[in-house]
Amino acid sequence: MSNVDYREELENILKEAKCEIEKTDNSKDLNDLRVKYLGKSGIVTALMKKLKDLTPEERPNFGKVVNELRDSIETLLEAQKEKISETEKMSAYQKLWVDPTMPGARRSVGHAHILTKVQKELEDIFISMGFSVVEGPEIEESWFNFDALNTPEWHPARDSHDSFYIDDKLLLRTHTSPVQVRTMLSRKPPLAIVSPGRVYRRDYDATHLPMFTQMEGLYVDHDVTVRHLKYFLEEFAKRTLGESAKIRLRPSFFPFTEPSFEVDIYFNNRWFEVLGCGMVHPNVFKNVGYDPEEWRGLAFGFGVERITMVKYGVKDIRDLVRNDLRFLENW
Ligand code: DAH
Repeated sequence: MSNVDYREELENILKEAKCEIEKTDNSKDLNDLRVKYLGKSGIVTALMKKLKDLTPEERPNFGKVVNELRDSIETLLEAQKEKISETEKMSAYQKLWVDPTMPGARRSVGHAHILTKVQKELEDIFISMGFSVVEGPEIEESWFNFDALNTPEWHPARDSHDSFYIDDKLLLRTHTSPVQVRTMLSRKPPLAIVSPGRVYRRDYDATHLPMFTQMEGLYVDHDVTVRHLKYFLEEFAKRTLGESAKIRLRPSFFPFTEPSFEVDIYFNNRWFEVLGCGMVHPNVFKNVGYDPEEWRGLAFGFGVERITMVKYGVKDIRDLVRNDLRFLENW
């Protein structure tokens, strides 16, 4: 082997190695190259093994240049290793990097249904006027729902066409008024309560649902009059709909009040029919064991859906229960 020959060969190996090493971009490939050149059966190792085939004069020189080649490749490998570990570190950092100026992942937060909100608001108004909140069962005995409320057997509201009966005695309550009876049976006067809750009727159109929410009111004391009734209802209207709201009472009939009234509320330039009310009928007092000579009571009942529709201008009551988010998200 001539001097020129192997020098050229070695230079080519170095060139090739440099080219390959500088192209690698990860430590695994780099390690493969280390094995390829400097490993036990690597290219440089194979050159070393050639030493024994050379003449004693040639050996020292050849050994020197092969050693230089090995050192050069070693240096190249080390330099590239440094570079790769730097970029690998950077890319690991990049993966971890968080841009604090980016908007966060939004989780939508729900809120109470509009009817729940209005009901709560109405409860608070009456609580602030000294009423307490009580509840009664939705499956009610017909005695509480009708008889105790002075609603005789012949009354059309008792008709099975109007009500959901479970058996002869039990039905889904058609109004919250039976809670008046339950409250008076379990408490001594004076008392002032409101009772919100679901009621059920065989109705379904743009202004009626088969299941809706009422709020009942009852105030029993020694000297309760229609003036108190008017005061509470006017206060309720103004606090719910604003100072400009007005009320008017029209004579009406309910079996459990005498006298009885329908109440209209004036809001946004028109009158809305919103509730029934009156002075507790003496027969109702007798049915619960209160002396009608000693006690007077005012009572009222209204639909929470109706108040909501008036307040927010809802045209179709069914929108309140359709669960369409485009509607519900407005409040
Ligand atoms: N319960 C009646 C209804 O559902 C509403 C009502 C009228 C309630 C007069 C009352 C009242 O307490 O005094 O139509």
